[in-house]
Amino acid sequence: MNLTLKIWRQANANVKGKMETYPIENVSPDMSFLEMMDVLNEGLISKGIDPVAFDHDCREGICGMCSMFINGEAHGPDRLVTTCQLHMRKFKDGETITIEPFRANAFPVIKDLAVDRSAFDRIQHAGGFVSVNTSGNTQDANAIPIDKHDADKAFDAATCIGCGACVASCKNASAMLFVSAKVSQYALLPQGKVEATDRVLNMVKQMDEEGFGNCTNTGACEVECPKGISLENIARMNREYLGASLKG
Ligand code: SF4
Ligand code: FES
Repeated sequence: MNLTLKIWRQANANVKGKMETYPIENVSPDMSFLEMMDVLNEGLISKGIDPVAFDHDCREGICGMCSMFINGEAHGPDRLVTTCQLHMRKFKDGETITIEPFRANAFPVIKDLAVDRSAFDRIQHAGGFVSVNTSGNTQDANAIPIDKHDADKAFDAATCIGCGACVASCKNASAMLFVSAKVSQYALLPQGKVEATDRVLNMVKQMDEEGFGNCTNTGACEVECPKGISLENIARMNREYLGASLKG
């Protein structure tokens, strides 16, 4: 395949960026999108041009690092996959592909396609954990029976990889889908109920302080989420938040 890539280039968060055009030839349809980007960068380096910076780590859909906005969609045109799991066979020979970073005020550009998503880490630190006594007397997890329905829902919520596609897809740059997944995975389990009130209040407070927008129930986040995180988690978080506010 021969393709034309239009890629956002920006040296850092303090300077303006712009789209640059790069032709690329002999791309195999079996390549992953990131392998195609590797080939592009090898070509740029051989010509003395600064390679395109982009985030990646696991390249198997579990770390959430590969944040690219491809042809107007977070993680590109495929569904339930991350950019590293996207294959070039999803594109046509001769196509022009537009590649941008995940855009949100709370995700400042580090360079080119790499953005700073440490706002998500700070939200997690605010309450996305369970405190466990590791004194040696820790109860066996299996000693607490958990309803299968709740266990499944908690597991589904826990599959969120913190990629930020939900924020990038939302016209308000809302982080509600991410935060609600992290709240839900604990709210559904007995182990998470002990700290539930503080957790939801602190995580929502941190989310607001980071500058994410409000949720207006557009649903774009759910469509673009590579892990199929459901909007029902947002409804659950709102119930948790209301209950915690009334207690507090
Ligand atoms: S909810 Fe989905 S899109 Fe948002 S961070 Fe988690 S995995 Fe990514
Ligand atoms: S590189 Fe880890 S999810 Fe894509």
